[in-house]
Amino acid sequence: MTDTISLVDELKRLESEALNAVAAADGPVALEAVRVGYLGRQDGKLSRVLRQLGTLAPEARPAVGAEANRVKQVVGAALERRGSEVAAGASRGPAVDLTLPGRRPWIGARHPVTRVVDEICGIFHELGFTRVRGPEVETEWYNFVALNTPLDHPAADEQDTLYLESDAGDSSARHGAHGVQLLLRSHTSPVQIRTMERHGPPIRVVAPGWVYRRDTYDPTHTPVFLQVEGLAVDEGITFVDFKATLGEFARRFFGEGTKVRFRPSFFPFTEPSAEVDVKRMVTRPDGVRVESDWLEIMGAGMVDPAVLSNVGYDPERYTGWAFGMGPGRIAMLRYEVPDLRMFFESDMRFLSQIVD
Ligand code: DAH
Repeated sequence: MTDTISLVDELKRLESEALNAVAAADGPVALEAVRVGYLGRQDGKLSRVLRQLGTLAPEARPAVGAEANRVKQVVGAALERRGSEVAAGASRGPAVDLTLPGRRPWIGARHPVTRVVDEICGIFHELGFTRVRGPEVETEWYNFVALNTPLDHPAADEQDTLYLESDAGDSSARHGAHGVQLLLRSHTSPVQIRTMERHGPPIRVVAPGWVYRRDTYDPTHTPVFLQVEGLAVDEGITFVDFKATLGEFARRFFGEGTKVRFRPSFFPFTEPSAEVDVKRMVTRPDGVRVESDWLEIMGAGMVDPAVLSNVGYDPERYTGWAFGMGPGRIAMLRYEVPDLRMFFESDMRFLSQIVD
C-alpha cells in the first residue's frame, strides 16, 4: 500500500517542478508541452499520481485527493498566467518601436572656418595666387627676425609666444648657445620668408594654417586659430595693386556693395601698414539686414624692403604687398556667430545649422 505521506510529498515536488517549467516556457508551444506533461489525462505526471489514489486506505484518500486538486489548480493557474504573458510579449513583436521617428545618421560637412579658408584661397586662386604651406613649429628667425621683428619686440615676448623647450630643457635659455630656439608660430607670416627663400620672384601665394598664441579663451580670442597669409612680390607692384586686390577680394567674398576701409597701422614687416575693416551686416529680429560695426579682417601692407633683403631679393627692383587674415573672425561675420569658441566646441546643433 502506497503511504499517504510519500504521495503528498510527491505532489509537492511535482508542484514546484511544474511551476519552474511553466516559468521557463517562452512560447505557446513550450507551455502546451508543460501542460500535457503535468496535467495531461493520459500521461500527465499529476494524473499518474492521482491514479495511485485507489491504492490508499479509504480514509487517507480525501486528504491526498484534496492536495492533488490544489496542485492541479495552482499549476493550471500558473499556466494561464504565463500564457497571457507570453501572448502579450508576442503581440509586442520585436523590441523595436516602429512608430519612433528614424535616427538620422550625422552627415559630415566641412567646418565653417575651413569653408571660409577654402573660399578665401579660392578667390585668390582666381586672382592668380597659389596655395602654399609652412611648418607650425618655427624658429625665431622665420617667425620674427627675418620679418624685421627684433627679438625684443613685444610680439616675441614669452607672454605672447609659445616657446618650445630647448635641447637643454630650458626655455629661458632661448637666447643662449643651445642651438636653435623653437616655437609655435604666432602667425603665418614666416611662410612668406620660406616661400621667398625657395623661389625667386614673381611670387603670388596664399598660406593658410594654424597659429598659436598665449591668449585667453574668450568670445574673440582662442590660443590656437587659423590665419591665411598672402604675399605678392614682383617688379612694379604698387600700393594701387595692393588696395585694388584686397578691395576686390572683399567684394567677391562679402558681396558687391560691401564697405571696406583701410586704416593706417604698424607691422614691422610692412611699410606702410594697414588694417582692413569690413562693415558688418547683421540680421535684425524682423529679418531686415542692417549695417552694424566695422570688423577688422586683416593686417596688411607693402612688404618692408628689409624683409626682401633678408631673403636675398633686391629691394630696389622688387616690391610687394602682404596680408594676414583671421578666417575665424571672418566666419563670425559671415555666419553672424557671436562667440569664436562656438567654432571649437563641436556641437552638432551649432555646426549643422551652417550648410553650404
Ligand atoms: N602677421 C600679422 C599678425 O599675425 C598679420 C599681418 C599683418 C600679416 C600684416 C601680414 C601683413 O602679411 O602684411 O598679426
